[in-house]
Amino acid sequence: MNTATTTSRKADFPGLIGSNGQPWHYLDTAATAQKPQAVVDAMSRALGRDYATVHRGVYSRSAEMTLGYEAARRRVAGFIGGREEELVFTRGATEAINLVAATWGADNLKAGDRILLSTLEHHSNIVPWQLLRERTGVAIDVCPLTADGCIDLDAAERMLTKQHKLVAFAHVSNVLGSRLDARRAADMAHAVGAKFLVDGCQAVPRMAVDVAAIGCDFYAFSAHKLYGPTGIGALWAIKDILGAMPPYQGGGSMIDRVTFERTTWADAPQRFEAGTPAITEAIAFAAAVDYVEGIGIEAIAAHEDRLVTTARAELARINSLRLFGPNDSAGIVSFQLGEIHPHDLGTILDEANVAIRAGHHCAQPLMDHLGVPATARASFGLYSDEDDIAALIRGIERTLKIFG
Ligand SMILES: Cc1ncc(COP(=O)(O)O)c(C=O)c1O
Repeated sequence: MNTATTTSRKADFPGLIGSNGQPWHYLDTAATAQKPQAVVDAMSRALGRDYATVHRGVYSRSAEMTLGYEAARRRVAGFIGGREEELVFTRGATEAINLVAATWGADNLKAGDRILLSTLEHHSNIVPWQLLRERTGVAIDVCPLTADGCIDLDAAERMLTKQHKLVAFAHVSNVLGSRLDARRAADMAHAVGAKFLVDGCQAVPRMAVDVAAIGCDFYAFSAHKLYGPTGIGALWAIKDILGAMPPYQGGGSMIDRVTFERTTWADAPQRFEAGTPAITEAIAFAAAVDYVEGIGIEAIAAHEDRLVTTARAELARINSLRLFGPNDSAGIVSFQLGEIHPHDLGTILDEANVAIRAGHHCAQPLMDHLGVPATARASFGLYSDEDDIAALIRGIERTLKIFG
């Protein structure tokens, strides 16, 4: 995908125009991606012309919507190399990980067992396990990082014992953009008999993911980071593991038979989708996958790699600027500008129609490790281009002048 192609891709995204009618240099795609018109249209059709409930209606519109909803499941599962019966729609990656902790975790882990996380995890892949620790007494270990901010798999290998029942790592760090060798991590986890969960939130939008090739047991991600809507995400899990997991929430749709004496559960994945699901969001989720596949995830990955190389080179020329993460970070560049607080930088950049993220990025243990309260983060998407980087650099230079 060359620059000309991405420039034309910008036109697919109605959100990329600022309130003053000027281009909006949106560099916060790791927080949430802008939506292409095709996704907006799919959602609006599903909410309008095609709208009906799923799984219960005897009328044809509902039957069609059920087909659409289940086709969306197939489409989303296929995007990461999985099958429909292995994919649960959740509210997002956060709920997917909470689901695993609350069901598989509570069912399989007990005091004396251990979980291995890493220093760079998002709070979504820390706090659910702490909640589980409260319930079960399971212990949590933290794998350190390499000097350039990757999960140190050599250290993980040394730390893992037969007591470890789960390894849960981010595929791509939302702060540093560092990539995990997920295949190696899976093999290491399995070698001690542990399951391996991947937080794929930041990987799925920016690299080809194949759960079978990784060999993981659980894979969690969110639609809104993949150019789809908020309010929906997915948990993929090995069929036999999913099939053996107890329900997460109780209610309609997740049952087989209910009496006041005893209730039996529906098969997975329906067992984990209590209540009326996010129907229109699921349809739009699949439309986002269609859109991304229409461009090609490899092309998007190569495009973001080029932008990261350019951005890091430009940022490295600014004397007082400290860059975090590895040189080959995936679509995400975090930095600190001298003594200037990232929030001040973000505010000044906003005046120039440049949107970055400033804060702890829901990764406070990583901030502690880096020795900073916050970082500035520029993150790219398939619509980002060199103009966005140039606007960022101009804004940083202006900020430096303002702060003298
Ligand atoms: C690495 C990572 N994990 C988990 C999450 C949580 O995703 P969501 O808020 O969509 O559930 C995020 C969101 O920023 C993330 O970047």
